[in-house]
Amino acid sequence: MHPKLRALQTQLQPAPLVHINCPELQHYGVELWLKREDLIHPIISGNKWRKLKYILQDALDNDADSLISMGGAWSNHLHALAYTGAMLGLQTTAFIRGERPPQLSPSLQDMLTWGMRLDFVSRQDFQQLRQYKDWNSLPNHSNTAYWIPEGGSSALALAGVGELVEEIALAYDYLVVPCGTGTTLAGLLQRAPAQATVLGFAALKNSGFLEAEVCALLNGTIPAAPWQINSSYHFGGFAKTSLELHQFMSKFEALTAIALEPIYTSKMLFGVYELVRQGYFKRGERIIAIHTGGLQGRRTLHGS
Ligand SMILES: Cc1ncc(COP(=O)(O)O)c(C=O)c1O
Repeated sequence: MHPKLRALQTQLQPAPLVHINCPELQHYGVELWLKREDLIHPIISGNKWRKLKYILQDALDNDADSLISMGGAWSNHLHALAYTGAMLGLQTTAFIRGERPPQLSPSLQDMLTWGMRLDFVSRQDFQQLRQYKDWNSLPNHSNTAYWIPEGGSSALALAGVGELVEEIALAYDYLVVPCGTGTTLAGLLQRAPAQATVLGFAALKNSGFLEAEVCALLNGTIPAAPWQINSSYHFGGFAKTSLELHQFMSKFEALTAIALEPIYTSKMLFGVYELVRQGYFKRGERIIAIHTGGLQGRRTLHGS
């Protein structure tokens, strides 16, 4: 590993697996465990470190002096990238969808503080940028500028995500994860054992494209584990929430003292509880859910 990356890695904490002690789940005879990826680091939390690790290694191996990526104004990916860039001594630039807001969100303010250049682009231009996949494919940039697709969606992200599967010492029947680009799901699929089912929960509406994205990232590898993507718990679309979701979050947080955010992990857990009630999981089955972090986004979306 590159020495700069190794130095960054020393800031990281373990991501423990915790049992969710919940009377309702006990009633249905289903066991739920949460892999606390959110505890890895206050900023490069959750799936961010997992996805970025080997991308950053590749950037350093290619002698990049800057990192460029894209995302929305609350992007956890850009937030983590801005911080990592500052730690690694690499200049960072972000293409952000939409017009510059009159008042920058706390996430954007952090990014500026860490030296990230913010480039606000039209929705049309943003859509265009999605076509660039390889690190050196972005036109009009020098060969020391390293391009990272939206959400860190790159084949290089999968190995880091796979490492979290290796840390799970318990046998399990289901491995569940929230999906944005499907990259984290693809990484889990590379390592998940054949006897487990991997279940993704789409955080966005019209997520029919996700399966093909996951297959493209797997690049012909057939996963040992069966998998599917549940698209019933997006709550109206990406970053949309409801009173019901917030009530679920509050109840879960009161029961477990584990903080959730309303975009990814809480939607996944809401879906898990619903499926438990519907009898989707059998008595005696064990579910391992991934808490993918992203709590920084709560400052805007949850008023805290
Ligand atoms: C907190 C959080 N959870 C889950 C996801 C979804 O991950 P992926 O885009 O790899 O599907 C993201 C987006 O990267 C995220 O920020």
